[in-house]
Amino acid sequence: MFDKLLRKKTTAVPSTLKERLNVLKEKPMPTHVAIIMDGNGRWAKQRKLPRIAGHHEGMKTVRKTTLFASEIGIRVLTLYAFSTENWKRPKREIDFLMKLPGEFLSTYLPELVENNVKVEMIGTAELLPAHTKDAIEKAMNATAHNDGMILNFAMNYGSRFEIAEAVKAVAQQVSDNTIELSSITEETISTALMTSHLPDPDLLIRTSGEVRLSNFMLWQLAYAELAFTEVLWPDFNEENMLNIVEDYQNRNRRFGSLEGDEIK
Ligand code: FPP
Repeated sequence: MFDKLLRKKTTAVPSTLKERLNVLKEKPMPTHVAIIMDGNGRWAKQRKLPRIAGHHEGMKTVRKTTLFASEIGIRVLTLYAFSTENWKRPKREIDFLMKLPGEFLSTYLPELVENNVKVEMIGTAELLPAHTKDAIEKAMNATAHNDGMILNFAMNYGSRFEIAEAVKAVAQQVSDNTIELSSITEETISTALMTSHLPDPDLLIRTSGEVRLSNFMLWQLAYAELAFTEVLWPDFNEENMLNIVEDYQNRNRRFGSLEGDEIK
């Protein structure tokens, strides 16, 4: 499988990683990995390039990370591509960010299909420009029957908004007498979220040295393992991901109990 990865990818993975990858695959893999892709602007600034050049390079890291995550057996990869707060950025930057899904998917959709990746999205699609929405919808339709890794783009996504909408939906059910107020559980809220069909993330990664959640999957990350790396998103590579997953596999996830010596 790793040989397939080496053949397919333009960015060659050093063969010294092969052994580590084999060991990694023997241990439980995080089912769902969520990533806050940060540091594109700083990457560009370091090179005296416009910020959008950083986003464009970041798009290539999306491709690289998707192929690698799929290869190592991650089932769901959620990428924070545009937050509800990102609308506060300059129009030129927003316009560029809105074009990236179209460019990414027109370039890499065949490769995603070939790798059995299923494209999905969380966030409010209605507020996206038509070309952005169309590109994502086209990719979702083209990959709808794939049963490999889910590549879940968080686009125009904000966790507090998502939770507020879920609360409204549950309140509506109470008012319609479809559920009892006393029967509301954590599961009721979970199933009203945009991620209702997905397992909660086991691992959250944030690049660029920032240590915060920035309104990302606040409910779903309750028991996630958190990994922060100084690496800027455009520089993030397979070895960085490998290091983080290895570290994850060596952690002791107890979910509040005292049991369990190893990752579950
Ligand atoms: C944060 O870095 C990054 C974003 C707001 C955009 C992330 C988008 C991509 C990586 C490309 C998405 C690709 C597809 C296919 C949807 P920043 O700009 O805040 O960086 P800075 O903190 O260094 O300024």
